[in-house]
Formats: sequence, structure tokens, C-alpha cells
Amino acid sequence: MTTIDLGRPTQGDVVDLILDDHRRFEAMLRDLRDSSADRDAVRQAFSALHVAHALAEEKYVYPKLRRKGAVGEHEAEHGEEEHAEGHQALLAVLELKGTDTQAFDDAVEDLATAVNHHLTEEELTILNPAREEVGEQVRAELGKEFVGERNRQLDDDCGTLTNVRRIVAEARREGLLDDDEETEE
Ligand SMILES: [Fe+2]
Ligand SMILES: [Fe+2]
Repeated sequence: MTTIDLGRPTQGDVVDLILDDHRRFEAMLRDLRDSSADRDAVRQAFSALHVAHALAEEKYVYPKLRRKGAVGEHEAEHGEEEHAEGHQALLAVLELKGTDTQAFDDAVEDLATAVNHHLTEEELTILNPAREEVGEQVRAELGKEFVGERNRQLDDDCGTLTNVRRIVAEARREGLLDDDEETEE
């Protein structure tokens, strides 16, 4: 379990709740770059939140926005591919023994690239339509479902190395990690 506070929201507008987590990711990426920080503690916290947040989006947020017609199949699938790419880059950070090496800096750089790309794209192509095309009440219901799943995953210690390895292997089997450039955008 992580010692870093990841917040325990219980309700709210799903767009705000997702953005709060995105700010947490950005703050933790900054700490991962900081050689004076406890980078091992930060990578564990980052891992837990990345897994919990992505799974909760895939289980509740993307399907509901699809059903409401706010988000197309392409955006939702592309989001899942980017979660898989984020998990793969995260796994590389977790697999390293030391945190004060060039290999760690390089892995953190790749992780930041993947995650920053996804946050930008998700905010532009998924959160904007959610703001514009989905009513307040639905966003509040969805907020509850999102944080419920997120917090359940955190309680289950979802960010362990073993679990992230399993998630990446599953994504590869599902074809979400095509190393093929064709699926890139
Ligand atoms: Fe997100
Ligand atoms: Fe996402």
C-alpha cells in the first residue's frame, strides 16, 4: 500500500473527479523526476492510481459516454489503447531496481510522454464532450460509480508489480499493445 495521499473522494461531477486525478498524475510525474524525492514511494503511488483510474474509466466512464452518444467507439477504443501504453511504460519504471540511475530517468521520461499524451487527448476528446453533451445529473451518477471503482481498486492494492505485469500481459493478448505503427495516431 502506498503512503502517499491519493485522495478519497466519494462523490462529485465525474469530469472534476477525473481532472483531480490528472493533476495528481502530473504532480507525481514531477516528483518522479526529482532526485531528492522518495522516488520509490512515488512510483508505487503512481502505479496504484494509474491502474485504479484507468480501470474505473474503462468500466464506467467510457461505456456510459458511449451509450449517451457523447463519445464514439473510436475514441473509447483509442483511450483503452493509451491506458495499455501507459501501463506498459509504468511497468518499465516498476521493474527497475534502483531509482538513481540513467535507466530510471529514461523510463520516467517515456512514462511522462505516454501519460501526458493521454491526459491531453482524453481531456480534449472525452471530457469536453462529457461537459457539453451529458447532463449534470448523469455526470454526478457517473462520478459516484467512477470513484467507487477507483477506491475499491486502491483498497485491493491494484498497483503491485505482479498486478501491473498481469494487466500488461492481458493487454498484449487483447491486441491493445500492437507495436505496429498503423494503430498510432
Ligand atoms: Fe483519465
Ligand atoms: Fe484515461
